[in-house]
Amino acid sequence: MPQRKGKRNRRPSGLLFFYMGKIGNVEINGHVLLGPMAGITSLAYREFMKGYGVALSFSEMISDCALVYQNKRTDEYFRTSSSDRPVALQLFGSNPEISAKAVAILEEKADYDILDLNFGCPVHKVTKTGAGSTFLKDPNRLYQYARAIVASSHKPVSAKIRLGYDEAHINFREVSSLLVEAGISLITIHSRTTSQLYAGEARHFLLAGLGKELKVPLAISGDIYTPEQAKAAMETTGASYVMVARGGVGNPLLISNIERLLDGKELLPAASLNEQVAFAEDFASRLIAEKGERAAVNELRGILPHFFKGFPGYKKVRNELATEMDSRESMTKILSRVKERGRL
Ligand SMILES: Cc1cc2nc3c(=O)[nH]c(=O)nc-3n(C[C@H](O)[C@H](O)[C@H](O)COP(=O)(O)O)c2cc1C
Repeated sequence: MPQRKGKRNRRPSGLLFFYMGKIGNVEINGHVLLGPMAGITSLAYREFMKGYGVALSFSEMISDCALVYQNKRTDEYFRTSSSDRPVALQLFGSNPEISAKAVAILEEKADYDILDLNFGCPVHKVTKTGAGSTFLKDPNRLYQYARAIVASSHKPVSAKIRLGYDEAHINFREVSSLLVEAGISLITIHSRTTSQLYAGEARHFLLAGLGKELKVPLAISGDIYTPEQAKAAMETTGASYVMVARGGVGNPLLISNIERLLDGKELLPAASLNEQVAFAEDFASRLIAEKGERAAVNELRGILPHFFKGFPGYKKVRNELATEMDSRESMTKILSRVKERGRL
């Protein structure tokens, strides 16, 4: 949702004006990471968002088995470009030998900077194979797996976890230390349990001070919808980075404004309706160029309505984009009507 203009010229204490961090040997210029989202964080989405100040992007998760058994569509998932860098490709798997083969394939075929391991996915299709957040149930298996992948990767390896599997098993501190010991270069924590899925509040306060204790950088994820939430999450946890996921969909200025708030700069005003149309058109044409009209329009039905979330009276437009848009032409018609209305 677009933010309001605010006057904040004071520089927050403890945060550097110009931030050049490192994850392994990869230089990271900024604090905001673009979180992996299956079905959303295509190359087109990452390139579009990069323009607003993303310091490091993550691909959606890629199955090690799909790589090893040469599923054709998988090639789409690891496509990157020079403007997409630095970028992390996220892998999910459960068997270290298959995953190591997948890493070798990625290293041969893909241009990327960091390999990210998914230990947070709560979806049954993934957890039933022993991958994703199932690992949180068995920290020793997670450690052995992470160590094996670090040994097989020539690039820095990062990992994304949750608080724990459920309320009775909140073990992110134990899991984080094991990941550091296994040679992981960045830990991202989504401050929910697996049982919470994506609902309920993200509890960053449980991670108080963790970023200062860990020997590698920490990134914090969950419920980052405003620059103030980002700054507060970083201050509470001592994280070096903040990850934007759902909050950035349809709101690219969130990225710019988080960085501006951390730098003590005045926030950019909320985007106007016509600016939001321009953002939507820019993203849509990139996605159509990447995936072709039919596949892109299918994906856009889930994404474009978010560009008009913060505007009262635009529910009909959002519904049309979600349910009636079936071609580039129909998208152009809907967006032209929005522009017309915006001029009234
Ligand atoms: C539609 C969707 C797809 C996601 N796919 C992935 C994924 O492939 N890998 C991953 O590690 N996290 C995935 N996530 C989790 C996000 O990266 C993020 O950690 C989570 O949404 C919490 O942040 P938020 O509350 O700011 O959205 C996904 C989230 C959503 C909503």
